[in-house]
Amino acid sequence: MTRILMVCLGNICRSPLAHGILESKLNNQLFYVDSAGTAAYHVGNKPDHRSIQVALNNDIDISTQSARQFKVSDFDTFDFIYAMDSSNYNNIISLARNNEDLGKVKLFLEENTQISNKNVPDPYYGDISDFEYVFDIIEATSTIMAKKLQKTNI
Ligand code: 4NP
Repeated sequence: MTRILMVCLGNICRSPLAHGILESKLNNQLFYVDSAGTAAYHVGNKPDHRSIQVALNNDIDISTQSARQFKVSDFDTFDFIYAMDSSNYNNIISLARNNEDLGKVKLFLEENTQISNKNVPDPYYGDISDFEYVFDIIEATSTIMAKKLQKTNI
């Protein structure tokens, strides 16, 4: 089993989308995908209604997800930890205990060479079009990741 964790700030907008979209593209017997936030503001909450809506428009149901905070033991549980932006990345690596932990952490958009800005923009204070844009770049990147992951897991 390969375990992948998606991390943003609140775990209600971006990482729930990355979690749901990548999960929908992988064999769930071989891959476990989860998400977390570096902050605790929304712990226990469902994803933002706009993330739920843009996912549903694409036949992905993320409404049963519940926000949680990133914890140090996630370095033990997960093989790959993807930060949605550089601020999330810095917050995660500040908790790393050793080089093995550090080596697991990457910016999510590093997996997509076609996008030059490596930060998934925070759509929280935006409108539905910002969420649609976030969905689109996460979807494109997850397609690339799923192909790569499945090649290494046959
Ligand atoms: P996320 O978006 O990190 O993509 O879940 C945010 C959600 C909540 C807040 C900021 C960003 N907030 O400040 O409450």
